[in-house]
Amino acid sequence: MKILITYYSLTGNTKKVAEAIYQSLPEPKELKKIVEIKSVDDYDLVFAGFPVHLHSVPYKVENFLRHLPASKKVALFMTHGSIPGTRLSREALEQALVLAGKARILGTFACRGQVSLQAMETLGRSPEHELWTEMAVTSARHPDQNDLEDARAFARWMLSLANQPD
Ligand SMILES: Cc1cc2nc3c(=O)[nH]c(=O)nc-3n(C[C@H](O)[C@H](O)[C@H](O)COP(=O)(O)O)c2cc1C
Repeated sequence: MKILITYYSLTGNTKKVAEAIYQSLPEPKELKKIVEIKSVDDYDLVFAGFPVHLHSVPYKVENFLRHLPASKKVALFMTHGSIPGTRLSREALEQALVLAGKARILGTFACRGQVSLQAMETLGRSPEHELWTEMAVTSARHPDQNDLEDARAFARWMLSLANQPD
């Protein structure tokens, strides 16, 4: 079972989760940025991760998800600044599931990721994001050790699903 862990990360949070997933999985495996991937044909299982940007999937990731081949075994992971379980943190994942609709999604994982000061300042300037930035303050120090442990457990679970006979 050849595994690809690929991610898009602007401020490093999703990269940390990707590295935790990578560490927890057996060889053969590769860890690469989404922008470096030309094809996923060589892999039996693909972990694809991204941060939430403006309530949705970043453009570069959109393109990647849309072109995933039919029936490819895929596990999605996401980091977000907003509080877990709120609509704000769910809608991007729902969008990702639609975009990757041809692939066989084995599962999804999401955890919080500290919102950079720059993002906080930029987003905080628009009235509709004012309350959002208040909520995002509590994302500080995520992903933490618990988040990364959860990500590793998620990865092992996805591998066991991928190894099951069709
Ligand atoms: C431009 C920008 C827009 C963002 N928009 C959202 C958002 O709509 N909802 C949310 O929960 N987090 C939002 N965030 C916070 C990021 O999703 C969060 O900090 C994430 O962990 C960043 O991942 P990265 O470090 O891998 O880039 C935004 C961050 C940036 C930089």
